[in-house]
Amino acid sequence: MSSFDQRIDRNGTACFKYDGRGHVFQNPDVLPLWVADMDFATPSFIIERIVARCQHPILGYTYRDAEYHEAIRWWYAQRHGWNIDTAWIDFCPGVVSGLNHAIRALTQPGDAIIIQPPVYHPFFDTVKNNGRVLLQNPLKSNGEGHYTMDLQHLDELAQQGAKMLIISSPHNPVGRVWTRAELLALGEICQRHNLLVVSDEIHSDLVFVGHKHIPLASISDDFAQRTITFGSASKTFNIAGLSSGFAIIPNKELRLRYQRELEASGAGMGNLFGIEAVKAAFSPQGEAWLGELLTYINGNIDFVEQFVAERLPQVHFRRPEGTYLLWLNFGALGITDKQLNELLQQSAEVGFNAGSGFGVEGHCFERINVACPRATVREALERVAAALEVR
Ligand SMILES: Cc1ncc(COP(=O)(O)O)c(C=O)c1O
Repeated sequence: MSSFDQRIDRNGTACFKYDGRGHVFQNPDVLPLWVADMDFATPSFIIERIVARCQHPILGYTYRDAEYHEAIRWWYAQRHGWNIDTAWIDFCPGVVSGLNHAIRALTQPGDAIIIQPPVYHPFFDTVKNNGRVLLQNPLKSNGEGHYTMDLQHLDELAQQGAKMLIISSPHNPVGRVWTRAELLALGEICQRHNLLVVSDEIHSDLVFVGHKHIPLASISDDFAQRTITFGSASKTFNIAGLSSGFAIIPNKELRLRYQRELEASGAGMGNLFGIEAVKAAFSPQGEAWLGELLTYINGNIDFVEQFVAERLPQVHFRRPEGTYLLWLNFGALGITDKQLNELLQQSAEVGFNAGSGFGVEGHCFERINVACPRATVREALERVAAALEVR
């Protein structure tokens, strides 16, 4: 038995995934495989680092020191082959907050910003809430669960004078890890039309064998100069509650504008425990732990693949190349989204993310989070199979 098999009771910790069920689902008892954090213990070397810091009795204002910056630099060189200058690193309390700051710092109200649905739902909100115009470049599906970017349509939208493109790389929820060729083609369009790119790379460490995450900004100097990359240790090491992400902005002018915006909203201080956690996470120890994590999650995906093939013939599923989020197509059931969600929440008693939350392209899809013990995945799928049988 692996330590990842341990089912940890998260009830009563004010966690969204469990204690938030009553607000999100029509049934507060659903087995939750929704919000993107993990049901695995945060690695002990991170907890120990935080506990060690607590041995000092004062938790006052703290800055991000050289060790913090060096940890991020090392991780990107080691894991992603991108040699960054530590001066390029800036802070964001969370990546969603960073997206908002970048939009405000680098575009004007009324400017058009492109996103590529189905995509992480806050992308829609960050554009709209800041009074920018949302342009959508939907991903293309080959009908068998494989998605690609519609580069021709992107080119057309860029020609209409869009200022910024926000990408999810790897892509939540469809699990694509964009290839170098795809990113190159995308970057060339941005170069041609002078488009800024916000590359949300929060899932960059969660990539399976046979695929490789390539930071968009690492491809060429021009791409680096027009790209704001967001990253975080939060998904990889299950520390989302520490509110501690970062931006990597090689272009000095863009970086200064981003910093000014961060300061203007007073969001630049950060969280002492987040700083300590990043130092512990982005380390050789963190790398070894991540290897074990990816093996376990890959095993969960094998399990889902086999289960769906044997017991859920109405569901279509394609393995993700990255992320612990699976994108299941329930279209063959021929029911509405409302009926599907009722079936899942009331009959099966499982809590998934409704696909329609990621854009209209998510109609009849559900996103499930398999960063949890295999027994939880099994129980959820058994519940779905039983509900479909009696339907
Ligand atoms: C693509 C993507 N970006 C950002 C976030 C959230 O990041 P944060 O908690 O740092 O705001 C998530 C969480 O699921 C995500 O999937």
